[in-house]
Amino acid sequence: MLGTSKSSFLAVVAVVAFAAPSFAQLTGQNANLGNRLTQTDITNGSMNLKQIRREGRRIFTTPFNKVDGHGVTYDVNNPDHTDFTNRPTLQNNGTFLRINGLDAQTCLECHGVVSNSSIPAELGIGGVAGAAGNAIFQPKNIDVDDSSNNGFADFDGRFINPPFLFGAGGIEAVGKEMTTDLQALKQQAFLNPNTVVSLDTKGINFGSISYDGSNFDYSNVAGIDQDLVVRPFGRKGEFFTTRDFDRGAMQFHFGMQPEEVVGSGVDGDNDGVVDEITIGELSALHVFANLQPKPEIKPRPGSGYGMVLFDQIGCTECHRPVLTADSKYHTFSFPDVPTDPSQNVYLTANLRTSPMNFSPTPGGGVALFPFADLKRHDMGPGLTESFGGALDAQFTTARLWGIADTAPYLHDGRALSLAEAIDAHGGEAAQARTNFTNLSNSQQLAVLALLRSLRTPRNPNMDLGPFQQNVNN
Ligand code: HEC
Ligand code: HEC
Repeated sequence: MLGTSKSSFLAVVAVVAFAAPSFAQLTGQNANLGNRLTQTDITNGSMNLKQIRREGRRIFTTPFNKVDGHGVTYDVNNPDHTDFTNRPTLQNNGTFLRINGLDAQTCLECHGVVSNSSIPAELGIGGVAGAAGNAIFQPKNIDVDDSSNNGFADFDGRFINPPFLFGAGGIEAVGKEMTTDLQALKQQAFLNPNTVVSLDTKGINFGSISYDGSNFDYSNVAGIDQDLVVRPFGRKGEFFTTRDFDRGAMQFHFGMQPEEVVGSGVDGDNDGVVDEITIGELSALHVFANLQPKPEIKPRPGSGYGMVLFDQIGCTECHRPVLTADSKYHTFSFPDVPTDPSQNVYLTANLRTSPMNFSPTPGGGVALFPFADLKRHDMGPGLTESFGGALDAQFTTARLWGIADTAPYLHDGRALSLAEAIDAHGGEAAQARTNFTNLSNSQQLAVLALLRSLRTPRNPNMDLGPFQQNVNN
């Protein structure tokens, strides 16, 4: 009896010693993430939507520190040195590397510019960033001094400019309806063997699918993964909700391990902190991100004619001006099931109400003006990345709403003006680019006037009132 308890006591000591924090908490050093939220706080009806959004804003803007769980404890013996829970830091400084993260303390560092079309720029929560905010994702080799003398620095990772979060709820709602449609079409193929079923939803075609009685033929599926889940988020179209994105963002940028990824009470990165971001906290972040105002159209001279031309020369093939959701209700789910958005809904929000204010459609839904099709396209060799993945040349159509305010452009921010961004189009967009080049100067200026009429929302999130908490640095 005694022996058993003694050895289990020793075992506990051993475990604790092994998992000891890699930093010693210093006097006066406190967590910045106050009020730890649980999912029950979100679902028990005690908080209204505005209060949940306010909590989400707090999480979005908190500078996480090591007491909160910022950072990972690097293990040289773990063979995966790029994994989000095991990355080296710069010169063993224990905090940042920047390349492949850890690269920031708060979401706001990279999502804080509402408009770059004024001097000085207009700041605000949920916006974009210049190239200094680019994420540098998983490079293994960077030939900084061009030792291979090919005229540029070879780079085998991804260099990605941050988009804004405005209007995300409308996009997510439309994406989920498209997913539901595509899953139904897959079922139709299953029930009608050897019939080719065209994958059309909301006027957008994702190729076709068939079933031969034992296997699906996915070889003609286009612009989407074979699971037929629409993933509007991330420039590669990899994330089906902003929550899906946020799980990885927390890990990548900060080494904050979400409870829903590493498990409850689990120290996923050996830094001595568990439940670094709870399920309830990611829910609040999801609600905050998706219940933001949408970008606006502010017509200007020439922009009406520009719209006609934009359509005529083929830009609208990908940059669809209008997408509609059949339902005005945006659902939030946890656990979230990519192929079935109707599962586990814990909260519903009306997209017609403030601050989203999406336009009503006669059928009871909402209309958005994103200028995008939520589909991936091959953009040609000029824009191809060198990550080595099947998707190197492919990008989900950039949503052009708000684009007057969001320079620099394209996935890596290489285009410093709208004209440069159009000029870089190739691949599936090569013909549209040629058509644009062949327009007269005044016609090209009309298309640019259209793009310059697409504005980000003014003063986003100001309805949430003053800031909530002081940080003890
Ligand atoms: C170091 C800069 C940086 C930080 C910090 C950062 N982001 Fe981002 N964010 C980006 C980049 C770059 C992208 C584009 C990523 C891609 O295309 O895969 C992005 C994309 C997103 C998207 C997808 C938007 C879309 O329309 O595709 C969401 C949502 C998002 N970030 C939320 C967050 C949240 C929440 C945090 C804090 C937990 C955060 N970001 C912190 C740089 C950053
Ligand atoms: C085949 C689909 C397709 C067509 C056609 C197309 N685009 Fe694009 N467009 C994209 C994709 C995909 C991106 C994102 C590319 C990247 O990030 O590298 C993009 C990006 C852009 C951007 C920069 C957006 C940003 O936020 O960085 C602008 C501006 C733009 N397109 C305008 C146009 C115009 C004008 C036309 C017509 C002449 C056009 N596009 C035709 C797919 C298309």
